[in-house]
Amino acid sequence: MLLYTHIVAAAALVLSAGAVSIHDINGKRFVSDYAGKNVSDVTGIVTAKGKAGIYLRSPELSDDKRVSNGLFVSSASLGKNESIRVGHTLTLSGQMWYVDPVSSSLYTATLKTPTVQAWNKTSHSPKPLVIGKDTPAPPNVQFTSLDNGNFLATPNNQSRISEKNPELEPTKYGLDFWRSLDGELVKIETPIAISKTNQYGDVWIRGNWNSTNINKRGGLTLTAKDGNPETIKVGDILDGSKGESYSIGDRFEDIVGVVNYVHGAYFVHPLGALKKIGQANSTASFETKIKSNSKCSGITVGDYNIENLSPADPKHVSRVAAHIAKSLGGPDLLFVQEVQDNSGPTDDNVVDANKTLRALTDAISEAGGPKYSFIDVNPADNQDGGQPGGNIRQAYLYNKDVVRLAPGPIGGTEDANEVVSGPALKYKVGRISPISKAFNTTRKPLAAEWQTVDGNHTIFTVNVHFTMKGGSTPLTGNIRPPVNQGVDYRTEQAEKTAAFIAEILKQDKNASVIFAGDANEFPVAGPMVMFAKKSGLKLIDEVVGIEPNERYSYTYENNMQQLDVMYVSESIASKKPIAEHLHVNTWVTYEEQVSDHDPTVAKINVC
Ligand SMILES: *[C@@H]1O[C@H](CO)[C@@H](O)[C@H](O)[C@H]1NC(C)=O
Ligand SMILES: *[C@@H]1O[C@H](CO)[C@@H](O)[C@H](O)[C@H]1NC(C)=O
Ligand SMILES: *[C@@H]1O[C@H](CO)[C@@H](O)[C@H](O)[C@H]1NC(C)=O
Ligand SMILES: *[C@@H]1O[C@H](CO)[C@@H](O)[C@H](O)[C@H]1NC(C)=O
Ligand SMILES: *[C@@H]1O[C@H](CO)[C@@H](O)[C@H](O)[C@H]1NC(C)=O
Ligand SMILES: *[C@@H]1O[C@H](CO)[C@@H](O)[C@H](O)[C@H]1NC(C)=O
Ligand SMILES: *[C@@H]1O[C@H](CO)[C@@H](O)[C@H](O)[C@H]1NC(C)=O
Ligand SMILES: *[C@@H]1O[C@H](CO)[C@@H](O)[C@H](O)[C@H]1NC(C)=O
Ligand SMILES: *[C@@H]1O[C@H](CO)[C@@H](O)[C@H](O)[C@H]1NC(C)=O
Ligand SMILES: *[C@@H]1O[C@H](CO)[C@@H](O)[C@H](O)[C@H]1NC(C)=O
Repeated sequence: MLLYTHIVAAAALVLSAGAVSIHDINGKRFVSDYAGKNVSDVTGIVTAKGKAGIYLRSPELSDDKRVSNGLFVSSASLGKNESIRVGHTLTLSGQMWYVDPVSSSLYTATLKTPTVQAWNKTSHSPKPLVIGKDTPAPPNVQFTSLDNGNFLATPNNQSRISEKNPELEPTKYGLDFWRSLDGELVKIETPIAISKTNQYGDVWIRGNWNSTNINKRGGLTLTAKDGNPETIKVGDILDGSKGESYSIGDRFEDIVGVVNYVHGAYFVHPLGALKKIGQANSTASFETKIKSNSKCSGITVGDYNIENLSPADPKHVSRVAAHIAKSLGGPDLLFVQEVQDNSGPTDDNVVDANKTLRALTDAISEAGGPKYSFIDVNPADNQDGGQPGGNIRQAYLYNKDVVRLAPGPIGGTEDANEVVSGPALKYKVGRISPISKAFNTTRKPLAAEWQTVDGNHTIFTVNVHFTMKGGSTPLTGNIRPPVNQGVDYRTEQAEKTAAFIAEILKQDKNASVIFAGDANEFPVAGPMVMFAKKSGLKLIDEVVGIEPNERYSYTYENNMQQLDVMYVSESIASKKPIAEHLHVNTWVTYEEQVSDHDPTVAKINVC
């Protein structure tokens, strides 16, 4: 068996491409000319070792900034071979990694199935390249020339980096920059966490180079034309240590590690454990100062995606209730999303959610909040997406001392709500377009008509939870612009909802209208830009002047971003509303978060 392996290896040597330098293997484009080919007499100094393999640096350096002098050699046996030390020089043969050009992952130069041809134990001490000093600074706006300046553009999936294989421009594009350091030993000075440690133990960071979109927490916010490519993910630690659970704004000692592309992103694999040396200033308080005056001039309105709330998880119910009672100050009218049915995720034909909502409202009053009433409309069993059997839906909680539903009928599962003369709603609570194809297998908007308790003022609301983004391809992936899964559905959903609202405002341009929920889309992205225009509503962040970098409710990969939105009509906008996002979940660790979304609270005048 051993002998046979030997013969095969020898045969490969004969057929191989001949001596080749590490910089030639990398080349100045994304995909190497050597992809998939056998190579031999590849010589490099060992810069790092880990359980997946070893990292080499070319002994003769190319000074072309496009070309990496580093190379990852995938081999668990070389990685754990203690005789081979950092600083030794190896000459190897093997095969260069090949990636299917239609993959959503980028090509990375990796030598697999290596055979050691020569081993020189004279010791060198490889110095890491200090990012931004020994290298250009990472570009901080665009990922790749293939996005044509707009990573959120539709249609997306127009091209692939692997196919166009552009010449790298590491001073212009983030992905080009990191590819130009693929396999290299680098140092990142004064790193800061811009994400929380995820369930795989990875955390995104930025270093002491220029960044755009920095928010007050220290993270980076996604904006219209800037997805923050100056960032990199910290992955497996090469000496086998385990990372801790970090949160956004944590600061570390300088990181020395190797650059590598895996799982759809560029990673730095540190040589040893991160050393945390500081954290974001602790939040003043997670409790809002926005308080209702219980009159038409000061009604408080909240919005919160409460992540698969089920009575089967009383701990989750009480943690959500504490947020609503304390952090949000028990707003008079609360829009919630992801309320599961009475049997939670059990798939048993149950669709009613009154037990779930009762458990929540009881827990809120126990936590010192208002004694809420609630209203929702059942979906058809398993027709609205989300966790199978959970039958998630939107619901309203309301404080009867301040607001009440307008008198009239409540819609059923398939009853389409309509704007009738008044303006008024046909159903005082009812779903918009419940049987339309636009909302197939997703949540239908829940439109309602409210009154102040004295009956003198009307408020129209629409509570949404649009189609999810699941199945999107990474911002740091091969497909450009990245696939924004579900964008066509969300566009149609936003359009139908906007038309409904526009009809209210057509009848009464002074109507008080609030649209809120989990749009699963950014206000700066096409569907919501269109929504604002067509509905006539305004994003409350703009109305109250929340700075663009502070507009976020969610953290995903390298970005803090706004999926949870509130839009108001001109009548509300013109009467000095106030609003804030409460970062009760984005700012804490993964283990401490109650929901994956932050809530929002506002105070409005509807007199
Ligand atoms: C490359 O090497 C492998 C063995 O490592 C061998 O099976 C394969 O045939 C070689 N391919 C070429 C094109 O030489
Ligand atoms: C380490 O690698 C060298 C060079 O390939 C080899 O000669 C040696 O047997 C290896 N040692 C172990 C323990 O695998
Ligand atoms: C090993 O490397 C050193 C320094 O790089 C060199 O002087 C020496 O000749 C090499 N030895 C062999 C056997 O190649
Ligand atoms: C991208 O488009 C190609 C056709 O060009 C298609 O085959 C592929 O499935 C699309 N990828 C995604 C993730 O939508
Ligand atoms: C950061 O950007 C500013 C303004 O664009 C520039 O003057 C400065 O040199 C940059 N600093 C670094 C470290 O790149
Ligand atoms: C944190 O607080 C310190 C001391 O009050 C202050 O100097 C520093 O600027 C604050 N940092 C941030 C990011 O707010
Ligand atoms: C839920 O509604 C059903 C039917 O209307 C009723 O029998 C039951 O008591 C309600 N449960 C709770 C917890 O409110
Ligand atoms: C809804 O989607 C399902 C499966 O995705 C499909 O079978 C059905 O035809 C669709 N219904 C409509 C009205 O488009
Ligand atoms: C509500 O309207 C009625 C009739 O116009 C008026 O008498 C009453 O004072 C109003 N209530 C409040 C609280 O303003
Ligand atoms: C709308 O409000 C404005 C300003 O408050 C007022 O002048 C106008 O009469 C109102 N229009 C209607 C149709 O109520």
